[in-house]
Amino acid sequence: MTFIAQDEINKIRSQSSIVEVISSYIPLTQRGKNYFGVCPFHEDHSPSMSVSDEKQIYKCFSCGATGNVFTFIENYLNVGFSEAVGIVANKLGISLNISLPQKKEVKFKEEYDLMRFVTKLYENNLQTEKGASALAYLKKRNLLEDTVLDFSIGLSFDRNMLYEVLIKKGYQEKYLEELGLIYKKNHDVYDVFRNRIMFPIHNLEGEVVGFTARCYLSDETPKYLNSKETYLFKKGCILFNYHRAKDAIRLQKEVILVEGNMDVIRLYSVGIKNGIALMGTSLTKEHIEALKKLRCKIILMLDNDNAGETATYSIGNIFEENQMDFRIVRLSGEKDPDAYVIQNGKEAIMTAIKNAISFVEFKLNYFKKNKNLKEASGLAEYVKAVIESLKNTPDEILKEVTLQKLSAEYNISYAILREQLGEEKQKVQKEVKIEKKEQKQSSYEKTCSKILYYMMHSKDFVKMYQTKLGIFPTKEHRLIANEILYYIEKHKNISIADFITYAETTNLKQEIMDIINNEQELEMTEDGMMELLIRIKKKIKKEEIEKLKQEIKKEQDINKKVALLEKIAEIKKGSVENESD
Ligand code: UTP
Ligand code: MN
Repeated sequence: MTFIAQDEINKIRSQSSIVEVISSYIPLTQRGKNYFGVCPFHEDHSPSMSVSDEKQIYKCFSCGATGNVFTFIENYLNVGFSEAVGIVANKLGISLNISLPQKKEVKFKEEYDLMRFVTKLYENNLQTEKGASALAYLKKRNLLEDTVLDFSIGLSFDRNMLYEVLIKKGYQEKYLEELGLIYKKNHDVYDVFRNRIMFPIHNLEGEVVGFTARCYLSDETPKYLNSKETYLFKKGCILFNYHRAKDAIRLQKEVILVEGNMDVIRLYSVGIKNGIALMGTSLTKEHIEALKKLRCKIILMLDNDNAGETATYSIGNIFEENQMDFRIVRLSGEKDPDAYVIQNGKEAIMTAIKNAISFVEFKLNYFKKNKNLKEASGLAEYVKAVIESLKNTPDEILKEVTLQKLSAEYNISYAILREQLGEEKQKVQKEVKIEKKEQKQSSYEKTCSKILYYMMHSKDFVKMYQTKLGIFPTKEHRLIANEILYYIEKHKNISIADFITYAETTNLKQEIMDIINNEQELEMTEDGMMELLIRIKKKIKKEEIEKLKQEIKKEQDINKKVALLEKIAEIKKGSVENESD
């Protein structure tokens, strides 16, 4: 988190107007007390996002996005929390005299400065006399000056030029070694990167954390030498060009995922700026998270070779497991998107992207590999594999069309195919039903949610909860109530918009946002709150009485039985008193 004090944040929040801020990005129209607009966080054309001037929050009834002015800026502009606070403060003309950068940035500031300096140095090398043949190589690859500048492409010289410059600047050998810039061998020190074209690699926030370096003088191996894993450079957390592409991705609601940095650079150079690269083909949990954060459709466009095809299959499966919205492009002819653009031009690749296919369609082809469909056993294997994979598709029409296609193409009875899938289908439907039932809130849960929602609005409601109920009988509600109580204790007051900022930092974030998103516009009165509290109290009492009745049944000792009966009478009396409150 940040160093900005919560009270400071709340002050900025309360001075801003969420309606003004959101409407500076998307058009809003007023209807009654609230404002409505097309939600920018999912594919939509109808105004499903409501913005409340009174509560200073927004909710999307379609995708569930919920938050205050800061969460809107964070998600809309894809920026971190402190930056979002800065942007809102800026709109208000407030200058922040607080330490804005996040902890992490402060922690690695020196390293980031150094990496930026190294990048500049490499860039500079490229423009010197000794850079002539490297420049010629780039030119031969159709990389124009603008692109070289846009991607801060540079050049490393031989031996230990970088080492010497950095030691003169006062850096320690060990430090440079740890950052993967130099290495030692038999008392000699070498630059890690020598005689290579240097491409800086940025982390998701846009700081240079490493390099990928291509040979150009001869066909050396490896073709690309990458920074080793360091405490800054974690390959599994990096998507090449992510930071640069964010804006274009948001505008186009689409991201193109490719294998190589050269593919990204090529796409960018012809004006397709929403490309990012995996730098190799393995996809990590962190990648998935970063991709999910973009909240957009993914176009998976890997190389046109066997490795690219296998990777498409395995990444497709991971995307499917994670319920991501994605489509696939398999280029033909050229080896990768880079070569494809050079050969066929921008329009051709744009058309290929527009015609991206579904994962099912990809698999229809993929499963044919290494099978002889002219043989009965090969064909049977193929058909089974396709049907098996259809299980995971929620799209009923796609299932139907695929079966029809299979039936027609291979002359297999449609009824049999349907039957094969049918069993699976029933099973899936059953599972879905059970899940839905579990998800459906009981009226008890609904009441608890409402109470918690009330409590987020004013400390008077919180006080009512404390005096009338004291505690929720269920843990999940108790934990959220505790967060509210903790918040009140610290800030002496509460509003839903400020509480959201705090909630974002807790591990109950999702649960809290769900409550806020689910509650419709309630007329909030003390009577209303009281009624809800009494409902819960009654339920608790009913359960207590039930428990005592069970005990009475089991109890042998007549005196103890009487005592239990008296206890029941007392509880009942209490509830009568309460109701007439
Ligand atoms: P490719 O071999 O497809 O590279 O590897 P490319 O982008 O087409 O490169 P050019 O066009 O020959 O310059 C795809 C990605 O795999 C990683 C790199 O990230 C590369 O962009 N790779 C490849 C390595 O890390 N090391 C290598 O030796 C090769
Ligand atoms: Mn390639």
